[in-house]
Amino acid sequence: MRFGILTVSDRSSRGERPDLSGPILAKTLQAKNWQVLQTGIVPDEMEIISKTLVKWADSRELDVILSTGGTGFAPRDITPEATRLVIERLTPGLDEVMRASSLKLTPHAMLSRGISGIRGKTLIVNLPGSPKAACENLLVIAPVLEHAVQLLQDDPGSEKGHQTA
Ligand code: MTE
Repeated sequence: MRFGILTVSDRSSRGERPDLSGPILAKTLQAKNWQVLQTGIVPDEMEIISKTLVKWADSRELDVILSTGGTGFAPRDITPEATRLVIERLTPGLDEVMRASSLKLTPHAMLSRGISGIRGKTLIVNLPGSPKAACENLLVIAPVLEHAVQLLQDDPGSEKGHQTA
């Protein structure tokens, strides 16, 4: 599977804070033998986030785009709204299970407003910003991502995934 990782952070985009979440997400994906083909850091700006997501998704080179950051309650946290602008179909099951599983780890999980959805054949998933939170959420959905991508590709082999489910 081919991934893009978009870090959304004003401070990291200005070079004032190192981006720890992007690299740790990349490591986690690569440990599963998945490819990370795109990485980037953008500020918490609606247009920049949504334009980057469109560019990456419409390149047709990525199966999954993970964003990290900007999902909370702070005034500049607008990653879910920027994502909603560009996705064509919502995938609420992923959001529900990430929040439900995270709630077992911390009550703060309910402060993530992250969403996910499909644009063309690309799945876009918002993860929270801290490296710990981003990885915890990724690990919740990781077991279904291959099947999700097969279904998006309309791969005839995708039926096999239903037998084990
Ligand atoms: N989810 C998990 N699994 N673990 C966490 O530590 N932190 C929460 C939440 N989700 C957390 C989590 C916190 S403190 C916040 S504020 C929200 O994600 C939003 O984070 P963000 O604004 O960095 O995107």
